[in-house]
Amino acid sequence: MSILSLFQTQVYVAPLLTRGAAAFTARMARTCRQIRLDDRAGQKWSARRYPGGYTSYNSLPRLHLMSPMFETLQRHVDTHVMRFAKALDFDLQGRVLVMTDCWANVMPRQVVHTNHLHPLATISGTYYVQTPAGCAGLKLEDPRLDRFMAAPPRRVKARMANRTWIEIPAKAGNLILFESWLRHEVPPNPANEERVSVSFNYGWF
Ligand code: NI
Repeated sequence: MSILSLFQTQVYVAPLLTRGAAAFTARMARTCRQIRLDDRAGQKWSARRYPGGYTSYNSLPRLHLMSPMFETLQRHVDTHVMRFAKALDFDLQGRVLVMTDCWANVMPRQVVHTNHLHPLATISGTYYVQTPAGCAGLKLEDPRLDRFMAAPPRRVKARMANRTWIEIPAKAGNLILFESWLRHEVPPNPANEERVSVSFNYGWF
């Protein structure tokens, strides 16, 4: 008998840096805070569309082209994205997989980012900058969920590969990459301190 594991959803988790991670993360935390202070358009947009929190997604969506700190981040993330593309057996001949968007997010207590995917992107991900103890992780949804017509629920202690939702803990200094069609959300942040992250898209088309 054999049971084949097919059509896997692969998610990449790794520390961004192996050396100097704490210093880089601390500098990035300061940079994100400064951007939030300076970005009046982003504050205004977030007040309406990201209640209680701040994101530069609408106002400054290409930070890697604006700030040396984010350009450095991009170079580091590039290495990981290439590794992930290799693990996915992507054939990238003829075009380049490049960072197209990069934005900062600050989520105080109770701020939520509801379920979504990233249309028009190939690989998406997040680099965690500040993650207070107990803060929300990244919740991923089984991409086949809309086809589960008569599928029974899974046991509470089901193996990770068989679960319908997985929450990957957010850890400062870590990077999470996934294919952009994978639906994900950030549940309400229960921690008193702010949860700070930088998200990005890579495009090949
Ligand atoms: Ni997202």
